[in-house]
Amino acid sequence: MSANKIKKIINKKKKSKIVCLTAYSKNIAKILDNQCDIVLVGDSVANVLYGMKNTDQILLETIIKHAKAVRLGLKKSLMVVDMPAKTYRNISEAKKNAKLILKKTKCEAVKIENNKMNFNIIKALVNANIPVMGHIGFTPQFKKKFKIFGKTSSEKKKLLTEAVLIEKAGAFSLVLECVTESAAKLITDKLKIPTIGIGSSSSCDGQILVTDDLLGLSGFYPKFVKKYLNLNKLIFKAIKNYKQDVKKQYFPLKKHTY
Ligand code: KIV
Repeated sequence: MSANKIKKIINKKKKSKIVCLTAYSKNIAKILDNQCDIVLVGDSVANVLYGMKNTDQILLETIIKHAKAVRLGLKKSLMVVDMPAKTYRNISEAKKNAKLILKKTKCEAVKIENNKMNFNIIKALVNANIPVMGHIGFTPQFKKKFKIFGKTSSEKKKLLTEAVLIEKAGAFSLVLECVTESAAKLITDKLKIPTIGIGSSSSCDGQILVTDDLLGLSGFYPKFVKKYLNLNKLIFKAIKNYKQDVKKQYFPLKKHTY
């Protein structure tokens, strides 16, 4: 079942753009399920829901809790769960924690951000039948200072080498975060697995955004985010109406009363 879903994602490369978004709760997951190929329970939950400065503070138990809720809302989309920082520092730690994530959440794959020593970890997870999505460019767990990657030819070369090694290690897809268009194109053309861009141009095989950003709820809108809705404003209006109704005793009415 999960192998089939992953095969379908890989087969979309160069045929049909892959649509991905994040979810941390059942209700949002349910809405995304009919629209998205991949739903990621991202460690961005740290910033978005818990107001943490860095994603590396989120605990494994917290990600698992959110992923269990997301699972309740997902039937069709491929469900990927981010491995929090410090849960994959070596092969045995990565295998133990990835297995726990899969067992507890029934997700189909995990995502790990890349640093210098991750290729053997991806390989070990894939060998243990755990599908892995890679992540390069801006990787918030390891790089605290925001920057765009792939501006110089040496950076492009470095990113390409990293991407090729991740593909060789067995990852089924690769997130490119805040990578220049030319680097994204170079990597996407070279790899057989699909690239999923965030702030990395339309050259990627698919796109991902943090759902709360595109809904206009998070308050975080960098250049690469398209705000499809101003949910903050809509919620504010609704709450204001509720407040007025309570004050003026327009709510609750007889029809809301037992
Ligand atoms: O944690 C997350 O939401 C992510 C995406 C932004 C790719 O890693």
